[in-house]
Amino acid sequence: MAITLSKGKAVDAMQLLTVHLRIKRYNPEVDSRPHWQEFEIQAKAADTVLNALHTVKWTLDGTLSFRRSCAHGVCGSDAMVINGQNRLSCVNLISDVGTDLVIEPIRGLPVIKDLIVDMEPFFAQYRSVVPYLIADDDPGYKERYQSQQDRERYDDTTKCILCACCTTSCPVYWANGDYVGPAAIVNAHRFIFDSRDHGTEQRLDILNQKSGVWRCRTAFNCTEACPRGIKVTQAIEEVKRAILYDRA
Ligand code: SF4
Ligand code: F3S
Ligand code: FES
Repeated sequence: MAITLSKGKAVDAMQLLTVHLRIKRYNPEVDSRPHWQEFEIQAKAADTVLNALHTVKWTLDGTLSFRRSCAHGVCGSDAMVINGQNRLSCVNLISDVGTDLVIEPIRGLPVIKDLIVDMEPFFAQYRSVVPYLIADDDPGYKERYQSQQDRERYDDTTKCILCACCTTSCPVYWANGDYVGPAAIVNAHRFIFDSRDHGTEQRLDILNQKSGVWRCRTAFNCTEACPRGIKVTQAIEEVKRAILYDRA
């Protein structure tokens, strides 16, 4: 099967290509600052960037560190900057990104080692928006009914896998780590517009604070970065409108 590389050249999906990787390395225990290291491997056009990183780790340098788990775009653990864009390494093929790869850790979070960042500040922002169903009523033995139409209202934001591609592509977040960030707002949106939930006022109060939605300057980087195709900026705008109008 023929497959087209990002530069427009068609190659067989199984043909071996020479792939150059330039990877930002940093081990805070021994390095005073990050540095670049280059590798050259053989990979197929249909291989993923994660496959290429595994080849480096398993055949050239076992100290190279990166997170991954599912390898199928589900767990959200392998976000990294690939050729300048936030992406999941496991869902981008060599044919998507080309044979010259520049790979860095996602920005705005402390680097633990190489491509592994400390996700705790990100998850703390996530927890701050109360990202779970709050329902005060007792449905007894009945289910909490929700119409298909009501379910569709927040369908888009249920798709989040908490990969942090959005938040760590946001220039406002880079400048101010107190900003709650697009991922937390997406996960607040998922419950704010859930007809069964009773925590909307609490979440809107949280997001109306100075670290909340008003920090967003509609840069759209988050929407472009989301590997799940979530309309992140639109979700943020809907939360802003809910604060301004729905509770008046
Ligand atoms: Fe990742 Fe998209 Fe969720 Fe942001 S909204 S954390 S980019 S899946
Ligand atoms: Fe940042 Fe996205 Fe707003 S990139 S400024 S959160 S639209
Ligand atoms: Fe799970 Fe990539 S390894 S999303």
